[in-house]
Amino acid sequence: MADFGSSTLRVPDVSGVPRHLAIIMDGNGRWARKRFLPRVAGHKRGVDTLRRVIRACMERGIEYLTVFAFSSENWRRPPEEVSFLMNLFVAALNDEVARLHENGIRLKVVGDLDRFEPRLRELIAAGERQTAGNRRLTLTIAANYGGRWDILQAANRLGQEHPERCGRWTEADLAPYLVMAHAPEPDLFIRTGGEERISNFMIWQLAYSELYFTDKLWPDFDARTLDAAIASYHKRERRFGRTSEQLRTTGEAPAAVEASSSLQNA
Ligand code: IPE
Ligand code: IPE
Ligand code: MG
Repeated sequence: MADFGSSTLRVPDVSGVPRHLAIIMDGNGRWARKRFLPRVAGHKRGVDTLRRVIRACMERGIEYLTVFAFSSENWRRPPEEVSFLMNLFVAALNDEVARLHENGIRLKVVGDLDRFEPRLRELIAAGERQTAGNRRLTLTIAANYGGRWDILQAANRLGQEHPERCGRWTEADLAPYLVMAHAPEPDLFIRTGGEERISNFMIWQLAYSELYFTDKLWPDFDARTLDAAIASYHKRERRFGRTSEQLRTTGEAPAAVEASSSLQNA
């Protein structure tokens, strides 16, 4: 597994376009309600938006796109809506995987997949297998995902595999067990739909991401909104704990603690 480094262990190199964009695709229900349509019409339209955003990300040189499709808390929704979303996921995988593959996109689905029905799990596994060698863009779909669930499953697996080091585990020991270990930390986070919260999305990985909130409802999100978010990102000063003066005078401050795994050093 590639080591992408950690923003808390070492100051990352962050020039240019965001390498990893993470999006909470929110506002589908309100989009539909505004048009006197059932909420699920918004979810359907949301899939079209995602297709367009994937293309726009590739055109802009973004290497990793991670989208929140279904949270571990979304099971609390009415059963009809949950089941519509599951069917939509199946349909989208059936329709889109071949096209993703043609476009050089690697598909990853992260979350607690055990709760999904076998048909969906098989489609996910097949889609991941087919696209595993692609690198133009890595599209990660977070489904039945929760940031707290992820940290706990990682800690439990680390504990099972390395009980002898309990009490001395480091950040670098835990990182490979997190479900986003295949990607660097997000540079830019976008949430559509007007809410300004994280809703249990990537709470570990967003530690130093730049946050951008827009009132645009997800089905209305487009390349222009994406460019506005990227323009805002370019104006940010990513200090990672340092001062502005340090950034200006040295261009780059000395790296902090080196990433080290007690497991490797043991
Ligand atoms: C986001 O849109 C999609 C999912 C959570 C699956 P919402 O369904 O949350 O839309 P709003 O927030 O109710 O408008
Ligand atoms: C977050 O949106 C989850 C997804 C977009 C999949 P929600 O609409 O579920 O979040 P809350 O409930 O408003 O925080
Ligand atoms: Mg919502």
